[in-house]
Amino acid sequence: MIGRYEKIDLPVSKVRRYLEPGPIVLVTSAFGKTRNIVTLGWHTVMGFTPSLVGCVIAAGNHSFELVRAQRRMRDQPTDDEADRPRGRIGNTTGAETDKFATFALTPQKAQRVGAPLIRECHANFECNLADDILVDKYNFFIFEVVKAHVAPSPGHPQTLHYTGDGVFMVAGKIISRRSQFRSELLDD
Ligand SMILES: Cc1cc2nc3c(=O)[nH]c(=O)nc-3n(C[C@H](O)[C@H](O)[C@H](O)COP(=O)(O)O)c2cc1C
Repeated sequence: MIGRYEKIDLPVSKVRRYLEPGPIVLVTSAFGKTRNIVTLGWHTVMGFTPSLVGCVIAAGNHSFELVRAQRRMRDQPTDDEADRPRGRIGNTTGAETDKFATFALTPQKAQRVGAPLIRECHANFECNLADDILVDKYNFFIFEVVKAHVAPSPGHPQTLHYTGDGVFMVAGKIISRRSQFRSELLDD
């Protein structure tokens, strides 16, 4: 029997399971008459003011050129279960199908960007492409969130997280450790 903190080797290509960054998001994009939705499991907050988010959109995805051409997108965390449309959206290319129609999602007009928001998501973040310096080398887009819309309740939706290899995790209970934080580290 192996002790709790004894380790075994892990292929480095598998570390994402231990570094899963946050909820699955649906990213919409639009260019001309074309619109699309892509499922993303990996993204990272890069700054608060300005509000920056980085993500990888693989160059083979239809969304890659749409986002790059429009320089806009909407980042929309999802809070549903793995067998709902997120997985299927992420296994369908918008080059062949209109995913809004196929997955019965409702597009709504954004205030600051051209790409539509998705009514069925609990939050919608309107983003501009802030920096494409890492796109050619890493397919890594740096976006600035310029407008955020969130449903007031639930305050902590049960988000869905992707750990790779077709395995998902549903976020668990919310705990507070505010009393242990230095006051300058707290938002309010
Ligand atoms: C759970 C899940 C997470 C995914 N995460 C990413 C990701 O972070 N980056 C990426 O480029 N593709 C990711 N994909 C794959 C794309 O969603 C998939 O290739 C999609 O079909 C591309 O659609 P498009 O060609 O219409 O842009 C993910 C797929 C799933 C199911």
